Amino acid sequence: MSMRTPQVEPAEGLPSGVTVYEVGPRDGLQNEKTVVPVEVKAEFVRRLAAAGLSTIETTSFVPPTWVPQLADAAELLADLGDEGRGPQRPVLVPNDRGLDRALEAGVGAVAIFGSATETFARKNLNRTVAESVAMFAPVVRRAREAGLWVRAYVSMCFGDPWEGPVPVEQVVDVCGRLMDLGCDQLSLGDTIGVGTTGHVARLLDALDGAGVGPERTGVHFHDTYGQALANTMTALRHGVTVVDASTGGLGGCPYAKSATGNLATEDLVWALEGAGVETGVDLEALAATSVWMAGHLGRPSPSRVVRALTGSGD
Ligand code: HMG
Ligand code: MG
Repeated sequence: MSMRTPQVEPAEGLPSGVTVYEVGPRDGLQNEKTVVPVEVKAEFVRRLAAAGLSTIETTSFVPPTWVPQLADAAELLADLGDEGRGPQRPVLVPNDRGLDRALEAGVGAVAIFGSATETFARKNLNRTVAESVAMFAPVVRRAREAGLWVRAYVSMCFGDPWEGPVPVEQVVDVCGRLMDLGCDQLSLGDTIGVGTTGHVARLLDALDGAGVGPERTGVHFHDTYGQALANTMTALRHGVTVVDASTGGLGGCPYAKSATGNLATEDLVWALEGAGVETGVDLEALAATSVWMAGHLGRPSPSRVVRALTGSGD
């Protein structure tokens, strides 16, 4: 007999509920070789919302030369209408031009995205860390003036493919500089999926000590080394209640080749449901969405839970 849901046995030390911050349409699709038609993207967002995901990052307002996969950001938001607006439908914006385009599209939330390391800042933003903070400052100020919710990502928090280990103090420093601009939430990016549990605990403690507590911090683990779920559970035991995940385990960063997919939303939801933690997500509907999306992308989902529930790995 195959199990459709986990046996629920509440685990100690976890929050009663978790907000899943879904990044599939943005982090997932930015990294696909196939450019997905805009109406398929819109249907993807609608299906995710129908499966119970409250927060969905829909796209990015970056130059099409940098990320051609998301060049249709304005068309996507026009197609989504009210379903793409509001404080729970963030989009990535790197600069003033991106914010102008996002405001024109009627968004209610934006995310800036910095780097803990100089090499990735240069590769991903064509700026030094200091220059990128200066680029983000007016974006955050104007976004807040316009009443938008603002998130700050920091990439390469647990290691960098060019620089190797990244000192915790250096990560805390960049996080502090971005949060000091006036952001509502921080997201700690393990862009290349190399972090481990003790490292997660140490970074969260250091951030807390520097005044950025876990109530304002989300975690964003790519699963390259298979550590994403273990790291997430550690973060939850340290007071974090916002977890980034990508339906079907899609994801990666075109400017860091060693980045593979994000923590799969289905894997996260299976673990949380079993531990008695509320997510509001319908696992069957989500797995069906991943199978549908895999059909458009021409390859099966890498998520173990999707494969187990749907037999789609054969
Ligand atoms: P740049 O080339 O230095 O930009 O790129 P620029 O300011 O010199 O402008 C060059 C041209 O682009 C100009 O046009 C601008 O108007 C135009 P021209 O005068 O030559 O005709 N332009 C724009 N057009 C549309 N939208 C815009 C925009 N901005 C400028 N927003 C820039 C600098 C920051 C723009 C670039 O480096 C960039 O967009 N980088 C983003 C790359 C990216 O999207 N990476 C993936 C997302 S990050 C990620 O995945 C990590 C994360 O998941 C967390 C984790 O996993 O760690 C978040
Ligand atoms: Mg990412």
